[in-house]
Amino acid sequence: MLPRYYAFLEAEARILAEAVIQDPSQLSNLIKLKIGTILIRIFYGYYVKTDNDPFLILIRASLNIFSSTAVSGVWLVDSIPFLKHLPTWLPGNGSLATAKRWRDVTWKAVWAPYAWSKRSFESGTVALPNTCAMALDIMDGELPAELEEQLVWATGTMTAGGLETSIIGTLNFFLAMMLNPVVQAKAKQEIDSVVGRDRLPTISDKSSLPYVRSVVTEVLRLNPPIPLGAAHALSRDDIYEGMHLPKGSIVLANILHMLHDPEVFAHPMNFDPDRFRNLDSEMQKVTNVVFGFGRRQCPGKSLAENTVFAIAATVLATCEILPNVDKDGRDIIPSVVYSSGMFRFPSRFECNIRLRSDKGNDLLTQSIDEVPGISPVQSSV
Ligand code: HEM
Repeated sequence: MLPRYYAFLEAEARILAEAVIQDPSQLSNLIKLKIGTILIRIFYGYYVKTDNDPFLILIRASLNIFSSTAVSGVWLVDSIPFLKHLPTWLPGNGSLATAKRWRDVTWKAVWAPYAWSKRSFESGTVALPNTCAMALDIMDGELPAELEEQLVWATGTMTAGGLETSIIGTLNFFLAMMLNPVVQAKAKQEIDSVVGRDRLPTISDKSSLPYVRSVVTEVLRLNPPIPLGAAHALSRDDIYEGMHLPKGSIVLANILHMLHDPEVFAHPMNFDPDRFRNLDSEMQKVTNVVFGFGRRQCPGKSLAENTVFAIAATVLATCEILPNVDKDGRDIIPSVVYSSGMFRFPSRFECNIRLRSDKGNDLLTQSIDEVPGISPVQSSV
């Protein structure tokens, strides 16, 4: 990921920290909004301010569709491609009508923010840098139709690919910190001794904060956002442990199982960042798996790692993440279950997020005011 976006990510992490301290009950909504803001700003130069932003709503709608369609084995037409040639009114062939409806939403979700970005680029009002503007700039504002379509789908799939996954990673970070106070304290201690308490951690501090990196890695290991990866089809016949797999077979990588393999990760259900012994070579056993494989490996890996790291380091430096307490002062530990489907979301949970110190508050407020280039730009969709 390009360092030119570091300051923006850090600023957004600080805005999030300030917002969750003010209203911890809105944690999930604030994270969803913040991740949407980050992605849409980076790819289109458009700054999302509220949950009911039209682009955010459209992209979320297309993602809901994607998570339904991407689950392998659900659609008969995937196994019997001939069905796509039959009329949609035939009994049992309704999936094609659904596909048409969904196609329209998806098409709009990728073209609408691009059209806005292009118009704003032309009028000189778009927030820079952003991916669309950079591509348009290189081509003096005019992309050949084929290239334009590639840009539209590339930015559309990157935005969609990053949204749910980064939201899940961030939610799981807060959950893990509430459930593991000893780990939380140790991560804070590392930040205090490396960064000090006179400034906030930045992405450039990442290499000096191996324990915070381990925490982020352990969050992704214990609860990978995409437990079965994306469906791949074999481009040629293959043999796996004596089984013949013909060309075209759909193959799913069981990422969750690999990351819970006790032969690789001792006591896999324990949240234990120390298992990596602060070594990147150990953390790679997770990052080489959780982002998928081969040439289809997640292209947003670096942005994802930096986003979750920026949020984790900022929140650890400035907040205490605690369970709520009942009327007798006992901790309320939520029992969280995970959704099934393409994306593995934790169920809604509550926690208490407090300011760590007044100094942290001052640093948050100051740095939010100081960072340039995050001013909102209005939508016209
Ligand atoms: C913690 C966060 C994330 C995790 C765990 C994650 C994980 C994955 C996984 C497992 C795949 C499937 C790879 C395969 O087919 O083998 C994938 C694909 C993809 N990811 Fe991510 N991802 C994350 C964040 C992001 C971000 C931030 C972006 C964009 C900025 C992104 C964009 C994509 C795209 C476009 C694909 C499809 C690639 C293709 O099929 O060729 N992801 N991701």
